[in-house]
Amino acid sequence: MIVIKSQSEIEIMAQAGKILSSILKKIARKLKPGISTLELDRLAENLIIEAGCKPAFKGYSGYPATLCISINDEVVHGIPSAKRIIKNGDIVDLDLGLKYKGYYSDMSRTYGVGKISQRAKKLIKVTRKSLDLAIKIIKPGIYLGDISSTIQGYVEKNGFSVVRDLTGHGIGKKLHEDPPIFNFGKPKTGPILKQGMVFAIEPMVNEGKSNVEVLDDGWTIVTADGSLSAHFEDTVAVIKNGYRILTR
Ligand code: MF3
Ligand code: CO
Repeated sequence: MIVIKSQSEIEIMAQAGKILSSILKKIARKLKPGISTLELDRLAENLIIEAGCKPAFKGYSGYPATLCISINDEVVHGIPSAKRIIKNGDIVDLDLGLKYKGYYSDMSRTYGVGKISQRAKKLIKVTRKSLDLAIKIIKPGIYLGDISSTIQGYVEKNGFSVVRDLTGHGIGKKLHEDPPIFNFGKPKTGPILKQGMVFAIEPMVNEGKSNVEVLDDGWTIVTADGSLSAHFEDTVAVIKNGYRILTR
């Protein structure tokens, strides 16, 4: 069942999203060679608590941290660690969620650190644009499959692949609500969008093949072929005549 949010609920989720995006920007400014991923996690947790919010991921199905930091061939759910040091040339996905006044917000951005390859730059650009293109078509009456196929079409046209084993999701009083939002699919399939639905749309795009594996830590998802992966996520509401991005 897809939960419909009232206008006042969407206003709260917009406040949550505004807090979240400003926190993620602050963390991104610290993303430099030499910093450990644990330091970034600590900063994220402190900023979330200072803002009167709660980390969304910590304790979720036993996830041990506030941020997910996924570097290079890591797709998502990389666990912060004091031993993991950011290096020049890395591409780094910072994925963060918080809870504010009972409502969740979820977003991610992939950043290049220092000098990154042309391929890496293109991967990041294409992933971001696939999310932007998918968001732009959102309005009541379209199908969820229209979003999925927009992402897949743009990514594959550019020679990359979408991860098929993980999805975006509805979001609200729970971090993960219905429906799952696949990053591949066919137009005019699936549920029809209605005013008041709120989605976390999150293309995960691999430079090589779409296959992924889970590391022994039980969380970190990596590309099976070792190629680079990028990830962008926004929380977006369906409103009367279109969409409202809550996390920008
Ligand atoms: N943004 C991710 C998601 O929506 C992060 C979840 S990590 C978890 O699934 F630890 F919370 F599972
Ligand atoms: Co998410």
